[in-house]
Amino acid sequence: MPPLPPLPAPTLFRLAPEHARACLDLDQAALGGIWSLAQWQRELEEEARPGLGLRQGEALLAMACGWLVLDELHITLVAVAPGHRRRGLGRRVLQDLMQTGLASGASRATLEVAAGNGPGKGLYEALGFRTAGIRHGYYRNGEDALIQWVNLKR
Ligand SMILES: CC(C)(COP(=O)(O)OP(=O)(O)OC[C@H]1O[C@@H](n2cnc3c(N)ncnc32)[C@H](O)[C@@H]1OP(=O)(O)O)[C@@H](O)C(=O)NCCC(=O)NCCS
Repeated sequence: MPPLPPLPAPTLFRLAPEHARACLDLDQAALGGIWSLAQWQRELEEEARPGLGLRQGEALLAMACGWLVLDELHITLVAVAPGHRRRGLGRRVLQDLMQTGLASGASRATLEVAAGNGPGKGLYEALGFRTAGIRHGYYRNGEDALIQWVNLKR
């Protein structure tokens, strides 16, 4: 049998309200479900809340979302489907979100990451984020949150 043709490279797109169900599914698979369907719909309607996705065919493989607040991009989440990690998708979708923030007038970006989230911390460090503060016991399980920042104008 001849080999199967390679899958097409994932393509980047702007998330919109019609993607709320796919975002909810990926949110649940990657993060345990931080937002409800109604929250996702509201999130994706707002011009000042940019969200980017990477899709392969109909499958949403990765997403990154943020809020534009004055000259800051507040990154609310980054998620990659469990079977597709360590292939550069998280880096790509977050880098593109940072570019989108810069193009929209943000000069720096910030986020919170759980102190025990090795993959998250690894990704953010690779993109230049540095810890500027700690919120002790911030998460429901008592874990600390690291407050991180990066300058987008480099
Ligand atoms: C964090 C997450 C988004 C990373 O996505 P990913 O597509 O696997 O990451 P990438 O392949 O783009 O990796 C980019 C860099 O991040 C770092 N990194 C990624 N996964 C890592 C891990 N498991 N351990 C340590 N560093 C890691 C590395 O520096 C990596 O570069 P390298 O592959 O050249 O070493 C993914 O693990 C995920 O969805 N986790 C669950 C959701 C989550 O915790 N999100 C962050 C908080 S909102």
